[in-house]
Amino acid sequence: VKIPWSLAQAEKGGYKHFMLKEINEQPRAIADTISGNLQWFESGKVEGIEPEEVERITVVACGTSYHAGLIGKFLFENLAKIPTEVDYASEFRYRDPIVKNRDLVISITQSGETADTLAAMRLAKERGAKVLTICNVIGSTATREADTVIYTYAGPEISVASTKAFTTQLTVLLLLALCFGRRRGKLGQREFDSLFKELMSIPSKAEAFLNREKEEERVKEIALKLYRAKNALYLGRHVNYPIALEGALKLKEISYIHAEGYPAGEMKHGPIALIDETVPAVFLATKSPVYEKVLSNIEEVKARKGRVVAVVNPGDSAVSKLADFKIEVPETHPLLSPVLNVIPLQLLAYYIADFLGYDVDQPRNLAKSVTVE
Ligand code: G6P
Repeated sequence: VKIPWSLAQAEKGGYKHFMLKEINEQPRAIADTISGNLQWFESGKVEGIEPEEVERITVVACGTSYHAGLIGKFLFENLAKIPTEVDYASEFRYRDPIVKNRDLVISITQSGETADTLAAMRLAKERGAKVLTICNVIGSTATREADTVIYTYAGPEISVASTKAFTTQLTVLLLLALCFGRRRGKLGQREFDSLFKELMSIPSKAEAFLNREKEEERVKEIALKLYRAKNALYLGRHVNYPIALEGALKLKEISYIHAEGYPAGEMKHGPIALIDETVPAVFLATKSPVYEKVLSNIEEVKARKGRVVAVVNPGDSAVSKLADFKIEVPETHPLLSPVLNVIPLQLLAYYIADFLGYDVDQPRNLAKSVTVE
């Protein structure tokens, strides 16, 4: 019998790279993360934590997990009214942080082995805070050392550039923020129900996007137009500002193109000086209270002959008229939009790196988990 696939290919489920496989696994990974956490979520209790008593949350993490933390800040502050700080683990540990015993420190780590994140957790514990970890690897050091563990159910993530770990971390952060908001009496039943219902619909919306060949072809076409760029800007506001950072990080990691993520409103204070026809600007422009603001930022870029790629929702007209390229993602609640909006940016980085012929799963100079300080 002739087996058409090599073993390595079979592991990749027929995909050319693990990264592409993992991008496509996100609907399942998100669904598994919701169902794997339903027990504590439905009981309204996170073991070892009294949300009413938490005065402040500090998130510590590195890389892509740090970007998830930045979105977590919006969720905890908006839904649970808990002041939240987010710190790079490598900064937190060296800045002599003020930690109080009513602080909750949340570490976010796919591997549970990142040295800086572990050191930040140890410092937080020493100083009297409760430490909760959001982690993907059962039995990892972070899960053994934290007071409380909440798992993401992304399954093994092989590609160095993180994709499904990120969207499942966002899923857990939303579940936590909903739970805390409810317990602290800051979130009415209606809003709670409607956000949870919307979260339940995310796997099928992600699936609809990923299954729409037309949309994937469009991302490929855009990648083909952009892969020769030397620099790129990623711009977003509010919860999609961290998505701009994450989109830029993905591009840097695997295509070695210099990219910067920026809050779109801050563009006029510097990055706009970079804009010309050679520097593409990728905008997150889905429906939200800041849509009009993003639209005017796009006008500023177009006025300087910049090429604009815009991530929009179906039915969009104002941004789509201005953008050189648009990618349509399904609409959801603005607080949940990062989960869907990041997917086209993962694909864009993937196809650009693939066109450039790079080893997508094993980018130069990078490791899947950084166990040195
Ligand atoms: C490395 C990886 C990144 C990852 C970061 C944090 O730099 O290349 O993809 O986001 O570590 O890893 P962690 O396992 O702690 O989430």
